[in-house]
Amino acid sequence: MEIREQLYQGKAKRVFATDDESLVLVDYGDDATAGNGAKKGTIVGKGAVNNRMTNMLMQQLAAKGVPNHFVRELDDRRTLVRKVQIVPLEVIVRNIAAGSLSARLGLEEGAVLARPVIEFCYKDDALGDPMVNDDHILAIGAATAEELAAIRRMALQVNDFLRERMAGAGIELVDFKLEFGRTPDGEVILADEISPDTCRFWDSKTHAHLDKDLFRRDLGGAEEAYQEVLRRLMAQD
Ligand code: TMP
Repeated sequence: MEIREQLYQGKAKRVFATDDESLVLVDYGDDATAGNGAKKGTIVGKGAVNNRMTNMLMQQLAAKGVPNHFVRELDDRRTLVRKVQIVPLEVIVRNIAAGSLSARLGLEEGAVLARPVIEFCYKDDALGDPMVNDDHILAIGAATAEELAAIRRMALQVNDFLRERMAGAGIELVDFKLEFGRTPDGEVILADEISPDTCRFWDSKTHAHLDKDLFRRDLGGAEEAYQEVLRRLMAQD
């Protein structure tokens, strides 16, 4: 496998071309940002945790029938994935009120939602990733009706799987963000990452934050929390 030019520099990951047209390499770093890049810092060891955790969960999700981009882990920070065209939506699933939902609807953080809530944000940094509904998505052509239906179905499948998986590790799944991509033959599959950067995890007993909110809110201890989540998950396998 030959690594070629950098295709994309994200906030926390870099993506490189390879000598195989159908594959790209994802390189996870320790850089952390919050508030659409307003706050910048480092969470030492985060890249390796996010890489390992994402890969473990993606393989388990594939076995459960959720198609995704994972191909092969190369080392502790780098992974080969299928090259897809990212659907320009952040797909957020919530089980417990927190963060922007609590702020928007005046719900106390920790309030259990009667059913999971799916939200969509249009991926556009300049616009600050505004929330959109199904009508917006179809009207601007961000996804087709068929793609949207598949995305909703897969998002709820991921929620069911991940809630149970995290509960087994003594962790509550508060909410999380997914991204999806189109393969060259037009299939929509799960892409991106599933990690403490993109999920809210609370300790089941103490409700302590075990995720990026420690960084976003300057609470301290993010490095230890990221390692702790991975350690608990690995101890279960
Ligand atoms: P929010 O409460 O800030 O809307 O975040 C909901 C969930 O989505 C939370 O687990 C963090 C995750 N998320 C991202 O991973 N990236 C983002 O850009 C945003 C806004 C949220």
